Amino acid sequence: MNANDVAAHWESNAETWTIYSRAGYDKYRDALNTPAFLRMLPPVAGLAGLDLGCGEGTNTRAVARLGARMTGIDIAPTFIRYARETEAQDPLGISYVLGDGQDIDFPTASFDFVTAFMSMMDMADQRQVLRGVHRILKPSGFLQFSILHPCFVPPTRRNVRDANGEAVAVQVADYFDETEGRIERWLFSGIPAEERASLTPFAIPRFHRTLTSWISMIVEAGLAIEAFGEPTASRELALAEPVVADTRVAPIFLHIRSRKA
Ligand SMILES: C[S@@+](CC[C@H](N)C(=O)[O-])C[C@H]1O[C@@H](n2cnc3c(N)ncnc32)[C@H](O)[C@@H]1O
Repeated sequence: MNANDVAAHWESNAETWTIYSRAGYDKYRDALNTPAFLRMLPPVAGLAGLDLGCGEGTNTRAVARLGARMTGIDIAPTFIRYARETEAQDPLGISYVLGDGQDIDFPTASFDFVTAFMSMMDMADQRQVLRGVHRILKPSGFLQFSILHPCFVPPTRRNVRDANGEAVAVQVADYFDETEGRIERWLFSGIPAEERASLTPFAIPRFHRTLTSWISMIVEAGLAIEAFGEPTASRELALAEPVVADTRVAPIFLHIRSRKA
């Protein structure tokens, strides 16, 4: 699958994704994944940052609120339009660029850091993305990204639940199947049934890589891994937001921070 096909899929997802994520239905992102990502992020106040695969910009704005001067890039025009509209209404100094993360054309050594929230497993050629990130980072600059956990969310994953519906185990398969744009179809799980009936599920091209592949690509790009994170819901969070309770059995997300030497 080429970048145009990936862009077309994300463009078709963008309207529903923006409306429902902004309405609070992306529980994994808002309750667990982004807070854990931000806790792991080094201080960024005063630094120039790029958010790769920024979507409608909620996470870009969260990093900007920590004091960074942010640029966001995304391949889907509708996401960029929503992000720019929000920036116009409530300015945080973010500029948004429509573009392909596999073909980053910002000047060499122009950013202190790069973030990528849940976007790099959606890019076909992560090796090229990582090389581009390395080029635009200043010396000692860092990349921090989150992805679906390669070990616990490979192409096939199923929660095993007890009689009360509680997740007690996870069944995984096809770990070594490095998919090239296999389409995954789903909607945010909390969307009420009557609304779901009128929505087209997201169609998400997935480019799964094994953990070994990720580590190899990061190291080959010239980045040194310095931190890992595997967010898990606390007992309190799992009670408050039951949808994220399965992250107490095994992680769904992997966070990696790496640095240019
Ligand atoms: C799962 S969404 C995450 C969006 C946002 N980072 C967030 O956390 O809410 C993945 C994003 O990656 C973007 N994307 C996918 N392939 C891309 C590419 N090659 N270049 C730039 N953005 C890309 C999609 O358009 C989408 O906005």
